[in-house]
Amino acid sequence: MGYTQIIASLFGAPLTTVERFSAEAEEINLAVERKLGGRRLWALGRDERFALYCVTRLVRPRIAVESGVGSGVSTTFILSALEQGVLHSFDLGVKYGDEEEAYPVGLIVPEELRKKWVLHLGDSKRLLKPFLKSLGNDKIQLFLHDGEHTTPNVRSELTLAWSHMDKGAILVDNCDWTEAPDEFAKRLNTSITHLVDDMCLILKGWR
Ligand SMILES: C[S@@+](CC[C@H](N)C(=O)[O-])C[C@H]1O[C@@H](n2cnc3c(N)ncnc32)[C@H](O)[C@@H]1O
Repeated sequence: MGYTQIIASLFGAPLTTVERFSAEAEEINLAVERKLGGRRLWALGRDERFALYCVTRLVRPRIAVESGVGSGVSTTFILSALEQGVLHSFDLGVKYGDEEEAYPVGLIVPEELRKKWVLHLGDSKRLLKPFLKSLGNDKIQLFLHDGEHTTPNVRSELTLAWSHMDKGAILVDNCDWTEAPDEFAKRLNTSITHLVDDMCLILKGWR
């Protein structure tokens, strides 16, 4: 089963709707690839971008949160999918991976999308918890983890995101780098679905 069928089935959405979203993602990806100019920059892979876009379109978050911005590929797809919401992104803001050059965080995020984007520079281990607390009774509807893939950090980010969500979706990239996503789902007795490549999805309050 491809990611469009998996997503349609999990959300109880018509497959034609998810395929339409996937076609929209194709357009966005063309522009993203142009900006990347052949550089990989540790970004989400093609199908992961498309799956992220489709999930965000279906969830329609008012408040979305991501850890790990890098050049801004996931950021661009989430922002493009948002209708009225805002995206809060967390990143260390330092040279990342084995790239020779240091790139500004969110390098490729288009100017016109930035009005619905708040970038928090610093360690998510320090910033995420107080940020979520500052929302008070407000909840988040989407969380993407693509930052520090250590077991304690993944566990902590998923636990925080889950406790500040009534209904929504948690996406985890590199979900097989640690046991944390599977352990988390098991502990909460909830389902975790392998969506595409090494991205997985945990839904809360959906159906
Ligand atoms: C794989 S890249 C993110 C790629 C991005 N999601 C995309 O699709 O373009 C990982 C990012 O996580 C950030 N990062 C790593 N550890 C972090 C931490 N403890 N707190 C915040 N950001 C972190 C790095 O600075 C890097 O930019």
